[in-house]
Amino acid sequence: MAPTLNDVSGLRSLRAHGAAHGLLVGCAVNPDHLDGEPDYARTVAEQASIVVPENAMKWAALRPNATQYDFRKADDIVVFALSHEQKVRGHNLCWHEALPSWFAGTVTKENAAQYLTQHIRTVAGRFAGKLHSWDVVNEAIDVKDGRPDGLRNSPWLELIGPSYIELAFRTAREADGTALLTYNDYGIELDTPEQIDKRGQVMMLVRRLQARGVPIDAVGIQSHLSAGDVPGDGLIHFIRELRAMNLQVFVTEMDVNDRKLAEPVAERDAGVAKTYRDYLTPVLAEPNVTVALTWGITDRYTWLNGLQHASRADGKPERPLPFDYDYNPKPAFFAERDSIDGRPGQALPGADHYAPFNPTQPQRPQQQGRAELRRIVRNLVSSVCV
Ligand code: GLA
Repeated sequence: MAPTLNDVSGLRSLRAHGAAHGLLVGCAVNPDHLDGEPDYARTVAEQASIVVPENAMKWAALRPNATQYDFRKADDIVVFALSHEQKVRGHNLCWHEALPSWFAGTVTKENAAQYLTQHIRTVAGRFAGKLHSWDVVNEAIDVKDGRPDGLRNSPWLELIGPSYIELAFRTAREADGTALLTYNDYGIELDTPEQIDKRGQVMMLVRRLQARGVPIDAVGIQSHLSAGDVPGDGLIHFIRELRAMNLQVFVTEMDVNDRKLAEPVAERDAGVAKTYRDYLTPVLAEPNVTVALTWGITDRYTWLNGLQHASRADGKPERPLPFDYDYNPKPAFFAERDSIDGRPGQALPGADHYAPFNPTQPQRPQQQGRAELRRIVRNLVSSVCV
């Protein structure tokens, strides 16, 4: 039977197109949906060659109290990924947010370095050799805080001082000698005055780290965009500068909020897709950009719908991701896939580059049985992450 336009599995998937162009492609995932929702698990398995836990590896998720770790959800993701031949990014080892409630009363100037290094040894050590990369430090720059070095006044800065960044990277390398160690940040994508400043401070930070021999392999550009955002040349120059410094670049958390776009849905989706295309086409053409992830796969679970500042004036849910609420591919999917294809690489043998999304022909592809998935996970869980 001829495939419908909505069948984007196999050779039509993002992961297959990525593989043909030397690019890992994927999304942030939630272990509860992987386990509980077959459509979600199937879509992630079909489309992603790399996944990242949306929350399950953050401090607040892993650290129920000051002395114990709970790895169950994080392990579930690693097991799922390995069973689907996917790579995993770890996110994240050191951030000013998602700290557990006990943190403030327990972690002091006297013991903060010890808490940080012990956490990194335990968490990065547990997954050593199994992860593609770690976001070692997330969002350490905030120009508005007014420091000459651009560093954010985070709890880590206040407790340890600027050396916390170096400490985190060095400890991560000791704990996992193979994961690519990444500095990850947002608000560095565009050529607005604020973002140009911030991008400059991120570059200075990375240069300082390299000058001190700190192990850093990549920079993550989160890429939380708004429909209509137009990337300038600044980002491409930044990526090329990083390439000259021998660093990879990852698009780590892309989504495109559509709160400025009026209904109907078709126009909102077209606007979101245009931003995907305008942003990803030049970025993915850069050879040191080796990974592209969206922050979620389906509009059903976008974090934007939980955010007050991102909510739409008409009260409608946002549509920022490649698949809609019902797991149908959206124009953003095809824009992302075209951008991947624009990257230098081989043609995909056997792939048909058929017409773009046709919203009048929805069809749900076949589902992978939940029982089958459970069976795979059960078999793997005994051999992995013990
Ligand atoms: C930042 C963090 C992510 C996530 C998003 C919003 O970008 O890096 O972990 O929390 O905010 O969900």
